[in-house]
Amino acid sequence: MAELRGEKGVSRIFAEYHVGDAVVRLRQRDNGLLYEVEEPALTDGVKKSLDQAMDEYVKRGTNPEELVKKYSRRLSSSEVVALRYYLLRELRGFSKLQVFMYDDQIEDFTITMPGPVRLIHRLAPHYEWIESNVVVESDEELDKLVKLVIERSGGSITPASPVVEILTPSFDRVAGVLRGEVSLHSSITVRKFPRSPYSLARLVKLGTLRSEVAAALWLAVELKCNVIIAGLTGSGKTTLLNSLLLQLPKNYKIVTIEEHPEINLKDHPGWLPLYARLPTSPAARQTAIPLTQLLKAALRHRPTIIAVGEARAEEVQDMITAASVGHGTATTLHTDDLDHMVKRLTSHPMNLRQDQVALIDYAVFIVRMPDGRRRVKEVYENISGKWELIYDYESGKFKLPEKIGQKLAISYRGLEPYELAALEVRRRAEQLRAQARREEVVATA
Ligand SMILES: Nc1ncnc2c1ncn2[C@@H]1O[C@H](COP(=O)(O)OP(=O)(O)OP(=O)(O)O)[C@@H](O)[C@H]1O
Ligand SMILES: [Mg+2]
Repeated sequence: MAELRGEKGVSRIFAEYHVGDAVVRLRQRDNGLLYEVEEPALTDGVKKSLDQAMDEYVKRGTNPEELVKKYSRRLSSSEVVALRYYLLRELRGFSKLQVFMYDDQIEDFTITMPGPVRLIHRLAPHYEWIESNVVVESDEELDKLVKLVIERSGGSITPASPVVEILTPSFDRVAGVLRGEVSLHSSITVRKFPRSPYSLARLVKLGTLRSEVAAALWLAVELKCNVIIAGLTGSGKTTLLNSLLLQLPKNYKIVTIEEHPEINLKDHPGWLPLYARLPTSPAARQTAIPLTQLLKAALRHRPTIIAVGEARAEEVQDMITAASVGHGTATTLHTDDLDHMVKRLTSHPMNLRQDQVALIDYAVFIVRMPDGRRRVKEVYENISGKWELIYDYESGKFKLPEKIGQKLAISYRGLEPYELAALEVRRRAEQLRAQARREEVVATA
């Protein structure tokens, strides 16, 4: 942390770091924080060389590195850095949005109309959407940027198909809209997932959940229970689900089914990801592949665990069918309390019967706190259709899950189910705490 004397007196800098050759500062200002991007200086000399190099690229398609060599003869060493930076930014990168696309400290960034790019920063999530000093000047510039980001991420956005959601090769989720039919302005929102997905130990370290609760949920998923992780938007449901799936033994086959690719188990040898194909227009409805179809296909792959990224509609029926024949299932659900969860599950379009709801073993509720941290608030165990609160953050109460003991007792003889669950939860909680101590985590501001 540093104090700098700016034009308007003292302005405090909360963080300063490099993103490639650019410098980023989180600067305090009267009405909040500013995300300040300082890119290499675009001197007259750099600008002239850049224009010439771009010109040659358009005419001959010369390789950018050769262009840097050719057009940097009269430049100083820092100007050569700048030339390379801007050339790659324009020819291979994301133009004005380059830093936002590459800064791993950003959770989400968005532009919904001409004006500054806004973002949620991992070091200061409690500030919500903070402004940056990078400004999109006009609707035309915004159209161009939206197209550029989508195209360089491997997608395409056109007036005929103006709403696009894709995953970049580095696993960020890009949602773009082209103005015209559906919206007044073009817009883009990018959710940036951490480069390596959060491990369960990391979530323990971050204080999202206690090691014993983490150990119990880990066991629940491993023992093929049926688990729902519930919470509101951005509460950390998918992240928790991902971290639990990452704990699964290597000899498990995990089929994940999603509308939008978010779950990332790329280090697990038994991972089979399946993605729905959404209808992009009424005419394309016939070529759509819905989640329900994927769930049916998943069963033919003999999965150990089936995870549905987010349960929204009738696919829940297929998930419960899978549960009833002995597969483990896990999913996330957009709801924030138990009553509401059961109501959603039992009404249109999910339409589960009470006997089907009884097949769900655990419901985990996670919240985003006002300071931006995430916390597992409650865990319920469903015993023959009755939901019992086994963990409550407020009171600190934690009761060993009964079903885990019963399931463990099937394979380990000689001990009571309760003792088995206690031993196994303790052993795994210790392992997670040891791992958490080794985790390097940047504390939230
Ligand atoms: N426990 C956590 N601690 C800190 N940051 C977290 C935690 N969990 C998630 N995040 C960050 O919050 C953002 C949202 O997380 P995630 O996608 O898991 O939420 P979600 O509840 O599934 O959201 P949605 O409702 O949009 O599906 C991500 O950028 C993620 O990195
Ligand atoms: Mg999610």
